[in-house]
Amino acid sequence: MARSSAAISPTAHYTGYTWYEHGLSHPALVTPQGRLMHGALKPLHMLANMAGAPTLQAFLLARHRMIDMALTHAIEEGRVSQVIEVAAGLSPRGWRFKQRHGDRLRYIEADLPDMAQRKSQLLRQAGLLTPGHEVVPLDALADEGPLSLSALAGTLDPAQGTAIITEGLVNYFDTPTVMGMWGRFAKVLGGFPHGLYLSDIHLIQGNQHAGITGFKALLSTFVKGRVHLHFDTEDQAIQALRQAGLEHAVLRAPKAVANELGLALQPGANAVRVIEARTPN
Ligand SMILES: C[S@@+](CC[C@H](N)C(=O)[O-])C[C@H]1O[C@@H](n2cnc3c(N)ncnc32)[C@H](O)[C@@H]1O
Repeated sequence: MARSSAAISPTAHYTGYTWYEHGLSHPALVTPQGRLMHGALKPLHMLANMAGAPTLQAFLLARHRMIDMALTHAIEEGRVSQVIEVAAGLSPRGWRFKQRHGDRLRYIEADLPDMAQRKSQLLRQAGLLTPGHEVVPLDALADEGPLSLSALAGTLDPAQGTAIITEGLVNYFDTPTVMGMWGRFAKVLGGFPHGLYLSDIHLIQGNQHAGITGFKALLSTFVKGRVHLHFDTEDQAIQALRQAGLEHAVLRAPKAVANELGLALQPGANAVRVIEARTPN
């Protein structure tokens, strides 16, 4: 599993560039790899745009902004003041949320050791790290030990509401691996007065369009492994989340929140769902 996890890391460079290109990130988080990958896929994107076919960027932007929105609501309603973003890659969310919420928010970005080290270096060199914003090495698949989520959770304040975020991760793991990971998240979140899990997920329903199947194949080649679609419907995903201990789960569709977000629904945007799940603390 460690090998397949490491194979996923290059995609973080691509998404990192995408966040920057769309005004969501800081130039310090752009890497040469991201720029290169982006350049390589640009002709395909232009063709897809011209043909009105689904694009990768459409659902990437939808998921990113929807997770931002759900996290913003949870912070503003006082439910969350600590965030662990698992598999944060080169995402700007930690930096953006710390800029907005300052000392009221502790934000821990976590990723496999190489990526965490690189992210930490990029943020530090650009002077973007502020108190209460850390980048730490973590393996989302570790049950115990120094890289495990439970070890990291032990360093948080047990009296503060806490969110765990995964973005662009679950569809790279098979169903038993995802269930195991969700179980660990539920257990950890159960130790705080409020526990919130936010993630994107692609279901089988809504991902059978020819253009999207093509992208799935492309992505699978990119990460040298399969992209997994675990659940047919939203209800099945909700049942699985409950089974893992993440009760009160809802899946939101970009279409349903497009107005609230001022989101232009480009073809392909609605291929993703965003999970909002709370633990029954
Ligand atoms: C598609 S990228 C997404 C990055 C970021 N969340 C975003 O949306 O821009 C996937 C990320 O998952 C990380 N990753 C893969 N396996 C992991 C694991 N077992 N534990 C923690 N992070 C992992 C990779 O290093 C990479 O940064």
